Amino acid sequence: MVINQILKNYIWELFIPKGKAICLSNKYFYITMIINDLKGTVQLSNGVSMPCFGLGVFKTQEGSEVENAVKWALEAGYRHIDTAAIYRNERGVGNAVRASGIPRNELFITTKLWNDNQRNDTVMAGFEESLGLLQTDYIDLYLIHWPVKGKFTATWKVMEDIYRSGRVRAIGVSNFLQHHLEDLFRIADIKPMVNQVECHPYLVQQQLIDFCHAHHMVYEAWSPIMRGKVNDIPLLEELSDKYHKSQVQIVLRWDLQKGIVTIPKSVHQERIRHNADIFDFELSAEDMDLIDKLDKNHHFGAHPDNFTF
Ligand SMILES: NC(=O)c1ccc[n+]([C@@H]2O[C@H](COP(=O)([O-])OP(=O)(O)OC[C@H]3O[C@@H](n4cnc5c(N)ncnc54)[C@H](OP(=O)(O)O)[C@@H]3O)[C@@H](O)[C@H]2O)c1
Repeated sequence: MVINQILKNYIWELFIPKGKAICLSNKYFYITMIINDLKGTVQLSNGVSMPCFGLGVFKTQEGSEVENAVKWALEAGYRHIDTAAIYRNERGVGNAVRASGIPRNELFITTKLWNDNQRNDTVMAGFEESLGLLQTDYIDLYLIHWPVKGKFTATWKVMEDIYRSGRVRAIGVSNFLQHHLEDLFRIADIKPMVNQVECHPYLVQQQLIDFCHAHHMVYEAWSPIMRGKVNDIPLLEELSDKYHKSQVQIVLRWDLQKGIVTIPKSVHQERIRHNADIFDFELSAEDMDLIDKLDKNHHFGAHPDNFTF
């Protein structure tokens, strides 16, 4: 721990421009995020840079709704979009990306393999379909959406093949608890680079964060603003007054300062802009702790050991 702290301070002094960037590594030294602005990235274990902040498009309708959301996000400076086969809006994401005119290599697109493709042993077909709908030659990050019991280790071997084929820049998992990851590590030649899980002030799972970081896996938060319910938390209201930022902005900033990639969803232009306006303030260590202490281990979404879809 002490050595880590010294290394952290040393690196901080050496590489990070004073007053501008924040370098984070939590308890371990493996996750370093630069969070000056929307272009800020975290380096995955294979060297790929992943933008720390992105737009989620769950429950965003295929067609004009998703196309507008992605368009507004890209105009606001977002460079990272998180979709999934099951969201049924990959074509719209692809349309908006192509229409933006932004070079493909400046964007980071994540999509996820749905559970049926695991159950039916059609992993490769699921991947090909997503790639086609997204109208791109490669996906930046491809995730196993849920740890389907009895299936996810075999699925991972196909994910590794896809990675080796060069058509994804990184592979990872979603909704994996420590025991799922330990099972995966037993058969993996390539470790997942990311674990995307439900994460917000009522579900921190610090042990899982530490475990992922210790294994060079980036931790990524889904439902980071509790689908709007962070606005009902009194402590966040106090912090909102203190920092002159909204509760949503406080929580998204908390993610980044914890070294967690975050992907809030909105279909409204104003909110898309507002949610990303978090690079001009910094939460104190004491306030970070206060937010950590809101943890109730409460899942609003399905539990990774008991999902039925
Ligand atoms: N891997 C997984 O299993 C998994 C599961 C769930 C989600 N995800 C990913 O994570 C992303 C984010 O999670 P999420 O969509 O569940 O929830 P979220 O980002 O925590 O919240 C989205 C909800 O909050 C509202 N909202 C957005 N900005 C707001 C603001 N500034 N003030 C008040 N309300 C605001 C949105 O409404 P409007 O759209 O009307 O603005 C929407 O109803 C998803 O879109 C998806 O990409 C992954």
